[in-house]
Amino acid sequence: MLHKILKERGIKEILPFLPTEWASVRRKYLDILLAEEYGTPLPAPDSVTFEEMPFDYRSFPSLAGKATCRKVIAHTVIGGKEFSFPFMATIPVGEGKFPFFVFNNFSPNIPDKYFPTEEIIDNGFAVLSMFYQDVTTDDRDFSNGLAGIVTPEEAQSDLTLRAPNAPGKIAMWAWANMRLLDYAATNPSLDMSNAAVIGHSRLGKTALLTGALDERFRFVIANNAGCSGDAITRKKQGEHIKDISRMFPFWFCENYKKYADESLLTFDQHMLVATIAPRHFLSGAAVGDGWADPESQLLSCRAASVAWEQLGKKGLVAPDRYAEVGEQFPEGNISYHLRDGLHYLSRYDWNVYMNYIKKNLA
Ligand code: GCU
Repeated sequence: MLHKILKERGIKEILPFLPTEWASVRRKYLDILLAEEYGTPLPAPDSVTFEEMPFDYRSFPSLAGKATCRKVIAHTVIGGKEFSFPFMATIPVGEGKFPFFVFNNFSPNIPDKYFPTEEIIDNGFAVLSMFYQDVTTDDRDFSNGLAGIVTPEEAQSDLTLRAPNAPGKIAMWAWANMRLLDYAATNPSLDMSNAAVIGHSRLGKTALLTGALDERFRFVIANNAGCSGDAITRKKQGEHIKDISRMFPFWFCENYKKYADESLLTFDQHMLVATIAPRHFLSGAAVGDGWADPESQLLSCRAASVAWEQLGKKGLVAPDRYAEVGEQFPEGNISYHLRDGLHYLSRYDWNVYMNYIKKNLA
């Protein structure tokens, strides 16, 4: 049934390939999405160093002494210019190498409505968390933070003057996520073979792009990411490119606007999901989140599955129909769940993700 729906919606299948061809096929998908949607990613920094601040006052009252919580400043040099931003490293006390999340959030607070820090620690995970607007603001202003460093001056206050494939803000936040992973590589308490990147909504789109760009992430988690994230775009319910590129043109490159006419699309979001193969992709949907469209999220998992199957792995293991509320499909290398309720990153979602990771640790 789902393949039929994909066909009716005009979604291009992932064509069969040999495992030896995957790196180049993957690159091809990524290149299309970068050139037409998110923009050319920023280069790796010329250098990055980390300044660990003393233990943070926020750690002990909320976490009962079970974790240390440090502020860290990433000092980077990119294209010869300096750029620094803060993040928090919350790590269980005791010996060990902990699986961990890189979590880009809507506030710097620990804990926060989307960030049940103590429960995450109790599950044996560490978290590197950041407030996305510490990197650059969530608006048309390209003069501040990282945007101000990498955007030519004439385009900083008029985004339409950017090169058509110059990166939008999602690509910039994704770049910062990767720097948190650079930090993890320097901290012996963090297990680099079990790194997850997670985000909600616009930051779910960001998490997905981060995981597509950086294969060091074993788990890539897009919560309620929807349009221009993990949902098939063509003929979806709720939000469309014409909406998102009118309200949030600064998240994307200029090229993306032309796809307000979706009949012009030569790509769709299942291609981005496919670039995660053969690693683990986790998609979280909520039944009351029609703007994101849970069914189109499932469809892109289904369409992307082919990439895993060609690599001899299981993609989405699920019945050939849309999910019912409360269903979880965690058996393959793609996990999808449909929760009751609205657009939100809930404790239920975190538990689905943590249970999945615990079963699939390297
Ligand atoms: C808006 C936008 C969505 C986005 C969401 C969010 O609703 O249209 O695409 O996911 O904001 O980030 O909260």
